[in-house]
Amino acid sequence: MTFPSGFGPGTYGASFADVYDRWYGGITDATATARFTASRCTTTSVLELGVGTGRLVGALRTEGLTVIGIDSSAPMLDGLRHGLGIQADIAHLPLRPAGRLGGALCAFNTLFNLPTVELQTRVLAEAAEAVDGPIIVEAMTGRGLAEAEPQSVGISRLNAESLVLAATLVDQEAQTVTGQHVEITEAGIKLRPWHLRWSTPEQLDTMAEAAGLRLSERYSDWDESAFLSDSDTHISVYRRR
Ligand SMILES: C[S@@+](CC[C@H](N)C(=O)[O-])C[C@H]1O[C@@H](n2cnc3c(N)ncnc32)[C@H](O)[C@@H]1O
Repeated sequence: MTFPSGFGPGTYGASFADVYDRWYGGITDATATARFTASRCTTTSVLELGVGTGRLVGALRTEGLTVIGIDSSAPMLDGLRHGLGIQADIAHLPLRPAGRLGGALCAFNTLFNLPTVELQTRVLAEAAEAVDGPIIVEAMTGRGLAEAEPQSVGISRLNAESLVLAATLVDQEAQTVTGQHVEITEAGIKLRPWHLRWSTPEQLDTMAEAAGLRLSERYSDWDESAFLSDSDTHISVYRRR
């Protein structure tokens, strides 16, 4: 299975570019992300895979890193105010050969926007070719979805002007979540579709192996808390074998 019908690499950006900074600006700790990333990069430049509107770029720059950002979505890149943004698919990086990029960062489940194991593996392999340093991945473990209902609808956001309902379909076998954020305002209804294929940490390690990488560090958050069997998220650092 690849993308469900009607979904593609540009879906996420088309759905969320206009609200991304407002809705997700503080979704994870940008300062801790940047501090961790800068401490692992082997030079002062970093490749951010799926840079989006640049939510993390300001903090990365504060840590002394120059950011080269890749994203498939022009509307997301339109929001990028600092750093270099290149519109491209992270499974087909336009950067060769390995130069002075000191590492790659793929944050906030971005890897799971790629809908198959093959494409996620390819992202890791391409990043390994493009940078001269570690590949740092932030992702959910999938454990939080183990008990998820196959279908659900809930309130995502509510204020005096709008209601956002989040409808999701979870397929445990395919390891996919397909969702619609349905925004209702006086002006009408806006659909914001999205699709993720999650991989467990163990599956990611296998993909990394296939991409010529090995796991060298794993934590449950950017502050380097221990990764435990019930952690919902992980920060994994892969290096060339
Ligand atoms: C969850 S957002 C993360 C943005 C940013 N890294 C952050 O942490 O806020 C995922 C980003 O990945 C981009 N994306 C999804 N699939 C992609 C692909 N195949 N190639 C490049 N970018 C992709 C989306 O357009 C979106 O900007």
